[in-house]
Amino acid sequence: MKRKTFRTVCLTLSFLMVWIVLIYSQTLEPIALSEPGYEGGRALMEVLRDRRSTRVFSADKLSERDLSNLLWAAFGVNRPESGKRTAPSAVNWQEIDIYVAMAEGLYLYDAKAHRLVPVLEQDIRALTGRQPFVKEAPVNLIYVADFSRMGSAGEDDKSFYSAADTGFIAQNVYLYCASEGLATVVRGLIDRPALAAAMKLRPEQRIILAQSVGYPGESSL
Ligand SMILES: Cc1cc2nc3c(=O)[nH]c(=O)nc-3n(C[C@H](O)[C@H](O)[C@H](O)COP(=O)(O)O)c2cc1C
Repeated sequence: MKRKTFRTVCLTLSFLMVWIVLIYSQTLEPIALSEPGYEGGRALMEVLRDRRSTRVFSADKLSERDLSNLLWAAFGVNRPESGKRTAPSAVNWQEIDIYVAMAEGLYLYDAKAHRLVPVLEQDIRALTGRQPFVKEAPVNLIYVADFSRMGSAGEDDKSFYSAADTGFIAQNVYLYCASEGLATVVRGLIDRPALAAAMKLRPEQRIILAQSVGYPGESSL
């Protein structure tokens, strides 16, 4: 009887340990991003000369430094006293959120804290566009407008201004990529309903564009 109880306790304990390991290994942690390297970058005119779209990506993960600088360049806070950002935004609504789809999962860029907040522990890169290369790019940025932050503007104005605001952010990403020799392409070819469902977006959140980023693959060198 005693031996049976001991065996039951051992089994329960090992089951509990496996369960704890599984729970912890499946939980994405927030990623604190390092301070952006404000001194970096090449001369603006050279960067503009090199800005281009490329669609061949190496499978290598983006370094933490590149990810940090990329997101700050995209739409980081550059004036902490006012909370204003590296890209302009109509009425300073700051309605564009940047979601970051990587192999390990989907994150949301929290610009104020300059960190990535976990959203989904799932690789949804293939769903971020209709082109085959999107699943190979290590990072796919998804620009999502939150219409609920745009006050009493009409639907047409919300669509127009959120598209315009996204353009500035995407260009910041292009410039950072041109400066650092990264490959990137902004993309409108997206199955938006499928992606919105996978991301579990609210109805007032609208996917505007996506942008793939990574190190250049062989044939784009
Ligand atoms: C709003 C917008 C949507 C785009 N959508 C796509 C897309 O879905 N797929 C793609 O491969 N390129 C897309 N592009 C990239 C353009 O094809 C590219 O910018 C154009 O061919 C000019 O090339 P360049 O960026 O190298 O100057 C898009 C560009 C913009 C501005």
